[in-house]
Parts: sequence; C-alpha cells; structure tokens
Amino acid sequence: MADDGRRPILIAYDGSECAGAAIDKVAEEFAPRDVVILVVSEELEKVPFLGAAGVPVEAKTMEMLTAAARKGAQETAERGAERARAGGLEATTAIYEGGPVWSAIVEAADADDAALIALGSRGLSGVKHVLLGSVSGAVAQHSRRSVLIVHS
Ligand SMILES: Nc1ncnc2c1ncn2[C@@H]1O[C@H](COP(=O)(O)OP(=O)(O)OP(=O)(O)O)[C@@H](O)[C@H]1O
Ligand SMILES: [Mg+2]
Repeated sequence: MADDGRRPILIAYDGSECAGAAIDKVAEEFAPRDVVILVVSEELEKVPFLGAAGVPVEAKTMEMLTAAARKGAQETAERGAERARAGGLEATTAIYEGGPVWSAIVEAADADDAALIALGSRGLSGVKHVLLGSVSGAVAQHSRRSVLIVHS
C-alpha cells in the first residue's frame, strides 16, 4: 500500500465498461493512491429463492452455485484490481455477499473509512439513454461520503 497516510478510495466494480471507466478516472485523477475494488455478489442471496420459487434445488447444487458465484465475484474483483494497478493505483479487492448492492457499497465505504466512493453511472444492465442506474443513484442518495459518478 502507498503509505501516504490518506484514506482509500472505494471503487464499486461490477465488471461493466462503465465501472472500468470509473477505475480509469480515479487512476487519472488520484494515482498513486490506495483503492479498494469492491464487488457485491447478490447472487448468493438470490440462490435460496430458487427453492422458494418452486424449483427443486438440492443442497449440493446450491453449494455449487454458491461456490461458482463466489469465484466469479473474486475473478471480477481481480480484473478490476489489475486495471487499477495498470493505471498506477495501489489496489486491494473486497467481496461483499448479499444485497441490496447500494447498501453493501455504503457499508463497505464506512468500514474502510473511504475518502471517496467511485462508481460508473451505468452498469451491466446499462440502458444507455438513462443517465443513472439504480445502484449509482441510490449510493449518491444514501451515503454521507463524497461520491464520484463517472460517465463514459
Ligand atoms: N454488484 C455490484 N458490485 C459493485 N459495484 C456495482 C455493482 N452493481 C453496480 N455497481 C456500480 O454501480 C455502477 C452503476 O451500476 P447500476 O447497477 O446502477 O446501473 P445498471 O446496471 O445500468 O442499472 P440497474 O442495475 O439499475 O438496472 C456500476 O458502474 C458500478 O460502479
Ligand atoms: Mg446494475
């Protein structure tokens, strides 16, 4: 970690190009700087509802789904961290399991005492003509910390 005594910047990353642009923007404006690349994995919470929805899912299948979701989240976070390091940032990764996504981001920023939260304006479901996704909008509304929303 860059030992400059400054609090880290939390970058919420869902693997989308817009979230990637948020990493690039933070690198451009703030490198070298400690950043935490956070991926929130909601799938793990949704998995039990497969059962609730009437689809019979065996415990073993559930375990496999959970493991796959966890692995996917870790891989996404690592990709984000590599992109951050390529831009000169000191990156670590964090995975939060369970949603809602915006709430996990707000909590993680508090836990890390982040100086800033950075997100892309849109994410994976990105309908381009809408300016903000639900996650970027809700984080801006609910966090007391400064929020950087990057448009790409
Ligand atoms: N699961 C997640 N983990 C971490 N960050 C996320 C996650 N989902 C979204 N983000 C962050 O929020 C930004 C905006 O994504 P958001 O989900 O709000 O838009 P969207 O996917 O286009 O729309 P929506 O999900 O509301 O249909 C992303 O660029 C990313 O920075
Ligand atoms: Mg989304």
